[in-house]
Amino acid sequence: MADRKEKYYITTPIYYVNDVPHIGHSYTTIAADTVARYKRFKNEKVFFLTGTDEHGQKIQKAAKKAHITEKELADRVVQNFKNLWTKLDITNDFFVRTTDDYHIKCVQKSFESILKKGDIYKDEYEGWYCIPCESYYSELDVGKEHLCPDCGRKVDLVKEESYFFRLSNYQDRLLEFYESHPDFVIPNTRYNEIKSFVKSGLKDLSITRTSFDWGIKVPNDEKHVVYVWFDALLNYISAIGCNEKEDFNKIWPADVHFVGKDILRFHAVYWPAFLMALNLPLPKHIVAHGWWTVDGKKMSKSLGNVVNPNEIIEKYPKDAYRYFLLRNVPFGLDGDFSEKEMIARINSELANDLGNLLNRSLTMVDKYSSSVVSKPNIITDKSLSNMSSEIFEKIEKSMQIFRFDEALSYIFEFIRDANKYITVKEPWNLKKNAKNDELQEVLYNIVSSLKFIAGMLVAFMPDTAKEIWKQLGFENSIENYDLKFFTDFYSITTLKVQKGGVIFEKIDEKKKKKSAPKKDSKTEETKKSDKITIDEFFNVDLRAAKILEAEALEKSKKLLKLTIDIGEENPRTLVAGLKEHYSAEEMVGKTIIVVANLKPAKLMGIESNGMLLAAKDGKTVALLSPEKDVKPGSKIG
Ligand code: ME8
Ligand code: MG
Repeated sequence: MADRKEKYYITTPIYYVNDVPHIGHSYTTIAADTVARYKRFKNEKVFFLTGTDEHGQKIQKAAKKAHITEKELADRVVQNFKNLWTKLDITNDFFVRTTDDYHIKCVQKSFESILKKGDIYKDEYEGWYCIPCESYYSELDVGKEHLCPDCGRKVDLVKEESYFFRLSNYQDRLLEFYESHPDFVIPNTRYNEIKSFVKSGLKDLSITRTSFDWGIKVPNDEKHVVYVWFDALLNYISAIGCNEKEDFNKIWPADVHFVGKDILRFHAVYWPAFLMALNLPLPKHIVAHGWWTVDGKKMSKSLGNVVNPNEIIEKYPKDAYRYFLLRNVPFGLDGDFSEKEMIARINSELANDLGNLLNRSLTMVDKYSSSVVSKPNIITDKSLSNMSSEIFEKIEKSMQIFRFDEALSYIFEFIRDANKYITVKEPWNLKKNAKNDELQEVLYNIVSSLKFIAGMLVAFMPDTAKEIWKQLGFENSIENYDLKFFTDFYSITTLKVQKGGVIFEKIDEKKKKKSAPKKDSKTEETKKSDKITIDEFFNVDLRAAKILEAEALEKSKKLLKLTIDIGEENPRTLVAGLKEHYSAEEMVGKTIIVVANLKPAKLMGIESNGMLLAAKDGKTVALLSPEKDVKPGSKIG
């Protein structure tokens, strides 16, 4: 059959309407939105779907508790999701609701077609049911305590007549499919879990319920409602015409289903089996990301620490929130949300690196060249242009494997390179010495860099990209330019820049936190005097450590990986930004001073445990060392 696919199809999970949206939901949706925008930026056609999951016992219970009907509850909560997506500039092409007519019809039709085929049959079911997870478990799963293996809550014993999906029939086909599609599930570690789950044997799946009625009715047997997961997964095809409409084959199969790791099994095992039963092609990728905690703790209503994205984007620019979520964790791993870390990134990366680059560049163009830059006849220094091609290639590779964090780190590497270029070229001296040709070239290179940066940021920080664009003085909006305009570094002929305000204000953390309760009086005192007490100093555990091994990280310009003896049983790994100042070889054998009780941090995928001390004087960086020979682990202070 000829491939009629025209659009890159991206989905998010459809979220349950018994809960309000929090950062977890916004993370998945922002990730999906970023891919959608990135693809459009590269002139690809995209169909981007999100929506809500509105049936099931969980919703029924929540509605009862609120003394409203299920549909009323859904209508109310769905608005919370839609409003948030609008505020976050989410560019979904459609919003599916499982209570919509076309969806109900699609579920019923699909059920009937699999029933006819013989892969759905009626029997009796006894099992342990967890309402929050909407899942059945075996005796073995729930153990003596009868607790849900996924969420830890009490499960109920349920016995009912039920229709079953013959999942056991699909075990071999699934394994064959996994074998021949090595990047079906991303990341690979999660794929391995899925494979071993399927290898361990698949039981048939109960896919209807009679114990409650908030769901899609089974055709001709209306005391049954369809199991909420069979219902929900079908949203991915119901929303695009359920294999009936002309357009269906232009969109299906999905290119990527974004999900959290909590619901990977449903997407990587049940969903492909349902699709096989429906004779439909399977999605190309299921991408499962990790779990967000808040200030190191699991988010939960009972702890009262659920972060509402609406509140965050009232306090901080929306783009800073998008940036932080995508930048702070390697996509796939678990992440921790803390306002403190977000502020740190806003201040150093967004305000300092990016904001300053724009500001100082346009100030110079205004001052030295009456706001105008033009393409010089000959360009002698193409270093930034060359760098931009390399960076774009790297971004492409990272985006192919959905490593947003990496892609952003490359963009910011380029931003720092552009800042460095200015420092090195010293345009103010070129002006002073009347070296006008050289000055014009430098300004042109800088403005071309900003054009490149704006393009690269379009998918991640849409408002920021637009603002840079405006300040650069382009008349048409950034969406109107072809990819080539960005990858061809020297595409600007002439521009009159329109310098505007700063794009990211620096945030004073103390001010932001004012409303938060004070932890203890000591920090209050500290604030007044700006001095710390001796106790506070001793909170920092400084130790002497000996460097056992050192290795330059190939992928990084700055980082060295050190193995150090700090007087503990095992050596520690520490990652330090010293590559530009010390070679790996000369580090080995040195005794250094390390902050030993620093929270571990991941750098280029390597966990760093501690930070070494060095003095900085402009470009000179000098390691601190004890002045006499001391044992590793010796305390400093
Ligand atoms: O599971 N960290 O809906 P749901 C990261 N209706 N992501 C999180 C998160 C966290 N702490 N909390 C939630 C359902 N998410 C079903 C889906 S799809 C056919 C049906 C995100 O409202 C993450 O994407 O419980 C997770 O998979 C999803 O929200 C679960 O949303
Ligand atoms: Mg959930």
